[in-house]
Amino acid sequence: MGRLTGKTALITGAGSGIGLATVRLMAAEGARIIATDINGDMVQEKARHLGEDIVTLPHDVSCDADWQLVRDRIVEQYGRLDIMVNNAGTSGPRQPQDPEFSSLETWDSINHINVGGVVLGCRYAISMMKQQGGAIVNISSLAANMATPDFAPYGAGKAAVRQFGRSVALYCARKGYNIRCNSILPGFIETPMGQEALEGSISGEKTDPQVMAEKLKRTIPLRIFGQPEDIAYAALYLASDEARFVTGTDIIVDGGVSAK
Ligand SMILES: NC(=O)c1ccc[n+]([C@@H]2O[C@H](COP(=O)([O-])OP(=O)(O)OC[C@H]3O[C@@H](n4cnc5c(N)ncnc54)[C@H](O)[C@@H]3O)[C@@H](O)[C@H]2O)c1
Repeated sequence: MGRLTGKTALITGAGSGIGLATVRLMAAEGARIIATDINGDMVQEKARHLGEDIVTLPHDVSCDADWQLVRDRIVEQYGRLDIMVNNAGTSGPRQPQDPEFSSLETWDSINHINVGGVVLGCRYAISMMKQQGGAIVNISSLAANMATPDFAPYGAGKAAVRQFGRSVALYCARKGYNIRCNSILPGFIETPMGQEALEGSISGEKTDPQVMAEKLKRTIPLRIFGQPEDIAYAALYLASDEARFVTGTDIIVDGGVSAK
């Protein structure tokens, strides 16, 4: 029997990186999966074959109408949701993201997805979980805890995700819903988004990815980069009944960076 046998899990941003690794691991642990992504073709191509019980859907997490369609499909097909992984996120447009030159449009385009998507995800999760209980896992970032002068809107948004998750946790506890809510704060993870950061295309300053990678590795006590699976394992624990007494908190998965 798997650690998630009998549970239904919705994973957003599931066509790539951390989301895709989470689909693979949760499916292997027995969950029925609804894997969604704004890129519907990509999630279908990459995630559907990872298990027998995987449905893929196009889904923009910042769009309320998309959430309604996803909710209707889950309720119709499974009648319940046990696990919600709010993973979808963006590093934003190739515009300045420092506090001096970043525009309100840049702030909005990042945090409409990174914060708004989680706010909607938690709201829809509560509506589908409150009868039987469940677990919400929000993918924040180490950037929630550290100053990010070159990615200020991204870091501030990830701090909002972490803080909002705590409110969700205590709200649900107070209401007696038996819904737990926790965040994961990944450090640098080798995914397409991580690669963009190495290439400097997020901050707009072109850099040599290999030089950047070496420089960045020297700042990580374990001297390695994280892999998507490292985050998926943390999500698996938080989503499982093994974490039944864990709510309103974070797991930092960063190779030791925060301990310095
Ligand atoms: N890679 C890292 O180093 C790192 C570190 C900390 C936090 N994170 C967070 O982890 C999460 C996953 O990132 P990743 O590194 O796997 O990146 P990724 O680029 O590999 O995957 C992100 C996925 O989200 C999807 N997506 C983007 N906007 C969306 C939207 N509006 N609606 C639905 N799907 C959307 C993309 O299509 C993509 O499949 C993000 O929230 C990211 O901020 C990543």
